[in-house]
Amino acid sequence: MSNNSTKAADGKLLVLTPGMGAVATTFIAGVESIRKGLSKPIGSLTQMQTIRLGARSENRNPLIKDFLPLAELEDLTFGGWDVKPDNVYDACVHAKVLKPQDIEPIAEFLKTIEPMSAAFEQKYVKKLDGPNVKDFKTKKDLAEQLREDIRNRMKETGATRAVMVWCGSTEVYQSPSECHMSIEAFEKGLEENDEAISPSQLYAYAAIMEGVPYANGAPNLSADNPALTQLAEEKGVPIAGKDFKTGQTLMKTILAPGFKTRMLGIQGWFSTNILGNRDGEVLDDPESFKSKEVTKSGVLDTILQPETYKDLYADLYHKVRINYYPPRGDEKEGWDNIDIFGWMSYPMQIKVDFLCRDSILAAPIVLDLALFLDLAKREGKAGVQEWLSFYFKSPQVEDGHVQEHDIFIQHFRLKNTLRVMGGEQPVTHLSENYDSYK
Ligand SMILES: NC(=O)c1ccc[n+]([C@@H]2O[C@H](COP(=O)([O-])OP(=O)(O)OC[C@H]3O[C@@H](n4cnc5c(N)ncnc54)[C@H](O)[C@@H]3O)[C@@H](O)[C@H]2O)c1
Repeated sequence: MSNNSTKAADGKLLVLTPGMGAVATTFIAGVESIRKGLSKPIGSLTQMQTIRLGARSENRNPLIKDFLPLAELEDLTFGGWDVKPDNVYDACVHAKVLKPQDIEPIAEFLKTIEPMSAAFEQKYVKKLDGPNVKDFKTKKDLAEQLREDIRNRMKETGATRAVMVWCGSTEVYQSPSECHMSIEAFEKGLEENDEAISPSQLYAYAAIMEGVPYANGAPNLSADNPALTQLAEEKGVPIAGKDFKTGQTLMKTILAPGFKTRMLGIQGWFSTNILGNRDGEVLDDPESFKSKEVTKSGVLDTILQPETYKDLYADLYHKVRINYYPPRGDEKEGWDNIDIFGWMSYPMQIKVDFLCRDSILAAPIVLDLALFLDLAKREGKAGVQEWLSFYFKSPQVEDGHVQEHDIFIQHFRLKNTLRVMGGEQPVTHLSENYDSYK
């Protein structure tokens, strides 16, 4: 049923994750568990969602994976890097996301995946250290070593294609500098060990140079700069980012569009979290938290448009807090207090208490991004893939474009992009009743 021009997903797809912590290991373990028939791919659009084609009355609703030539789970193979030397089994046990009864049946498989040594410097993630780190003289060397790792891992696994999803810790906050303005400046920066080039940017550069699509699951800059975007366009490589949309921000981008469609005002939105995993520990450093704060705080403004709806949202006070609290582990708790107002400005309150499991929400995002980016590459798409905004807290957009945070609009765009890729018309929801709108 798919577009004939899309190259088929022949052979194995290598999914590379810089960072093999809670999210990456939950993702890998989940895929293996599903392949063995022990679990279902809950939360994954590529595996579970259908796509309506044509008018509703045509009754054509295939699964997305039957409509488009996505890689099969059976054809996925894995690789990654970490500063900790633990194999995926040990890292999975350490992360304490999954229960032993879910890990043990796939233990042998998980033990076969060892992390490659990391491109890492502690100044970019203050609260992290480990022995499994590459030596280097220049950042150019480091990028070349990563490129070689990609090629070697493809050979070892017999993969014909690869994608990379950054699942590493959140690096300290950075905005683009001089060396990010063009690929020439970036490459000069690599030779000269420019401080502004962090490890996640090296992985992104290495991936793009190897023709490997790249997604950034964390809030740090990584490929979100003119140099790497330009490189991705030139090399015909799709990229996407930033920061997986899970937990509290997922709730926020579900709820806020609802209030806005009903023209309900919001006076204040206070969000606080407790979490005790390694990610929480890293975010305990103010500079890493700053990266997260920026991606978490931006969502309400673009959804609510306070400059257009002054009476409803101009005075909205939005505050986000993340608190590292070890006893909670990966079982984060996110509280939202939302002060809304209605007719004649009468106030009301909504309290949300989300007892969430961060990595359980993030794992299917890693899977979908890997499969969709691989598809996009075979479709000949290059540069920033805005249609994947659905998966991110702070979607990377093309220069001059405005981010979209409303999850329903993001979803609409994603599905219509898939329809067009498959040679179908985008859905407008007017098709059957068009005459009544004239
Ligand atoms: N869990 C979620 O739902 C969620 C949601 C949005 C974003 N994120 C982001 O995804 C990332 C991963 O989250 P997590 O919970 O798995 O964290 P984690 O701390 O369990 O895992 C991150 C891993 O990255 C490794 N690492 C750090 N820098 C590296 C480098 N330069 N090279 C190789 N490895 C490196 C660390 O050693 C660690 O094992 C974090 O940045 C987090 O903020 C997670």
